[in-house]
Amino acid sequence: MMNIIEVKELTKVYEGRKAVDSVSFEIKKGEAFGLLGPNGAGKTTTISMLSCLIPPTSGDAHIEGKSIIKEPIEVKKRIGVVPQDIALYPTLSARENLFFWGEMYGLSGRRLKEKVDEVLQVVGLTERSKDRINKYSGGMKRRINIAVGLLPSPKLLILDEPTVGVDPQSRTNILESLRKLNKGGLTILYTSHYMEEVEFLCDRVAVMDLGKIIAQGTQNELRLLAGKMDSLKISTIDEVQMRLVEVIKKVSETDEVKIADKAIEILTLQGRKVLPKIIELLGNNSIRIKSVEVEEPNLESLFLHLTGKELRD
Ligand SMILES: Nc1ncnc2c1ncn2[C@@H]1O[C@H](COP(=O)(O)OP(=O)(O)O)[C@@H](O)[C@H]1O
Ligand SMILES: [Mg+2]
Repeated sequence: MMNIIEVKELTKVYEGRKAVDSVSFEIKKGEAFGLLGPNGAGKTTTISMLSCLIPPTSGDAHIEGKSIIKEPIEVKKRIGVVPQDIALYPTLSARENLFFWGEMYGLSGRRLKEKVDEVLQVVGLTERSKDRINKYSGGMKRRINIAVGLLPSPKLLILDEPTVGVDPQSRTNILESLRKLNKGGLTILYTSHYMEEVEFLCDRVAVMDLGKIIAQGTQNELRLLAGKMDSLKISTIDEVQMRLVEVIKKVSETDEVKIADKAIEILTLQGRKVLPKIIELLGNNSIRIKSVEVEEPNLESLFLHLTGKELRD
């Protein structure tokens, strides 16, 4: 399969700091590719370079063979970008806003009308399309943002955390619309700090932290990379004393122990073997257990494993 986008050692330096540090990845035609990382990882900076809004300090990327540095106009023709905020006119209806943007993209007449109807359908807002934008919820505005991104019929749709701060119904709608579009052949670059969204939507994932891609591959490859690490979550009724954490850390196979007042999280290579020992330790210290969860490796545990911190903020 052909690569629709090839990113090579893309770097952006701000005030001597590397916001994006030699990032490389490829996306195949028809793929949904996830860029997963916490706030400040460099996701927005990366896609701002890919959509030719800011120039890279070094490195390059090609979209259908067109360089973001040498051929930005050609690149822009091929991509639809959904930034976190698009200028929508609050006193105009959603439909009127889409007509405005469609004209900006060079559409007119019947083609424009058909396209507007089509994108409204995709984001599930046909029935509300005559309402003014200032009557819309944040989630509905985001869905209109996506509709705007689809107006130029792009080959590649790039989205910047489109579900942040939206209501659950819009979130589900957004993810399902994107999945449908992807199944229909649209290539998607999706950024998020929500692991479960990336797990739902994306074929392949690049995990980003502090400007660098720290792992990439298919979801299965990444799970394998996470080692055969299990995550144990033990909630207790009583406060867990720090002293006990030290004891738990000494339990041989335990790799990482995190602690809240009434919960212990352990990443371990052998959950099933370690669990009875931990429970015994808690019992010996008269700490009563409320619940125990054993989770198989996921992208969250991979992130914790690679960086020593949580993906969430
Ligand atoms: N215009 C800018 N000037 C200086 N620093 C910036 C600028 N834009 C982003 N940064 C910094 O670059 C890093 C990556 O930011 P960003 O790409 O927005 O991350 P993300 O989208 O993953 O949250 C952050 O440390 C951020 O503070
Ligand atoms: Mg961002």
